[in-house]
Amino acid sequence: MNALRIHGPTRLAGKVRVSGSKNTALPVLFAALLFDDEIRYENVPRLWDIETTLQMVESMGASFTWNKETGQVSLFPTVKSKVAPYEWVKRMRAGILALGPLVARYGEAKVSLPGGCAIGARPVNFHLDAMKQMGIQVGVEQGYIIASVPSKIRGAEIVFPQVTVTGTENLLFVACLADGNTVLKNAAQEPEVIALGNFLQLCGAKIDGLGSSTLTIHGGKLHPPKMPYSVPPDRIETGTWIAAAAVTKSEIEIQACNPLELTSVLSAYREMGLKIEEGKDFLKISAPQSLRPISLSTSPYPGFPTDMQAQMLSTACFAQGTSHITETIFENRFMHVAELQRLGAKIEVNGNTATVTGPADLQGAPLMATDLRASASLVVAALAAHGSTKISRIYHLDRGYQRLEEKLRQLGAQIERIAE
Ligand code: EPU
Repeated sequence: MNALRIHGPTRLAGKVRVSGSKNTALPVLFAALLFDDEIRYENVPRLWDIETTLQMVESMGASFTWNKETGQVSLFPTVKSKVAPYEWVKRMRAGILALGPLVARYGEAKVSLPGGCAIGARPVNFHLDAMKQMGIQVGVEQGYIIASVPSKIRGAEIVFPQVTVTGTENLLFVACLADGNTVLKNAAQEPEVIALGNFLQLCGAKIDGLGSSTLTIHGGKLHPPKMPYSVPPDRIETGTWIAAAAVTKSEIEIQACNPLELTSVLSAYREMGLKIEEGKDFLKISAPQSLRPISLSTSPYPGFPTDMQAQMLSTACFAQGTSHITETIFENRFMHVAELQRLGAKIEVNGNTATVTGPADLQGAPLMATDLRASASLVVAALAAHGSTKISRIYHLDRGYQRLEEKLRQLGAQIERIAE
């Protein structure tokens, strides 16, 4: 296994390019299962979750080529087996995104239940209940979701009890091939859902309301997109660079990003004292010598993203005063707190709120990564901690950040990957 060793504190400087969005690439790759012909993609990030997705569709009979340097993927979705096995879904919960395309296109699917993960129980009951309302028979046998279509998939009016990103995405797949119109209420408004909707529109789908909480989908036929689909930039990677600049009191330029998708993150960091210049596809960040504390809650888009909560918690450790950070999306997403405390952070968790007293004088220590964004928060903290920090189990980081240490080194960080 690999670990990262970071020597701090450091000052970052220069420019960094954001890679393609993981959480957009995943659903658009699974979307290929809706077709028989080749689908081409560009700007696909080089990540473990992409590797897992491609191997998973390969296990169903598809073939692919992936140029890891250029980010070009060609997927030939010749599906023979409509099964998403446990061995893949347990590695990556987003494997549940195979369910919608398989059942919509082939009328049958067998997809492993994802089970729990480090950030909470994460059930998929909203996906399944909505599919049942559209005429899909769904049962669970021996840990697998068994879905079939006895007559046809019918459009329906669905109200999600809670906003669900992959739930909305799975239902978009199904609704596009349903008989009649589907209305999805309390749908996710995340940029990744809009991007999937845009991809499906390139395939002939008729979807109204993208970016709002009510989506209307007029069921019909789909065709493969005529041009290669380019994956948009990753907004959480962008936010992670802002956090890294904030704790290291640095000036950096973040390139190839989309500032419009980061409104809540930018406003939180501005409140903490950062100067941020926004361009069409870049951000110039200038962090102050002393950060102000902050109080915020995570919420579905356009609110502050749960995927930035851990990195913000690390930032708050360096602010002058007391910050309050409340997690409202996942019940168990404070695994990084115990690790940050090992660096000397003063954080108390009560229920779903973390109270952070800063500024803490963090000292390097051996740490353990627990999930993807928790790992990112440890890297952020280690950049500003005094001395050497070793972060073990960084395979979590490799699931979602392309060439993180290479990019950090280019910005001047002292960071190396070591084998353990
Ligand atoms: N929920 C249910 N039942 C369901 C679906 C969701 O109770 O059927 C609950 C979840 O347990 C959670 C909340 O609803 O408490 C929201 O979960 P959601 O379904 O929106 O999460 P997801 O679709 O599984 C995606 C991202 C996550 C991101 C969340 C929230 C992908 C592949 N994953 O997960 O990304 O945190 O939305 O924005 O898009 C990450 O990239 O690190 C990551 C975890």
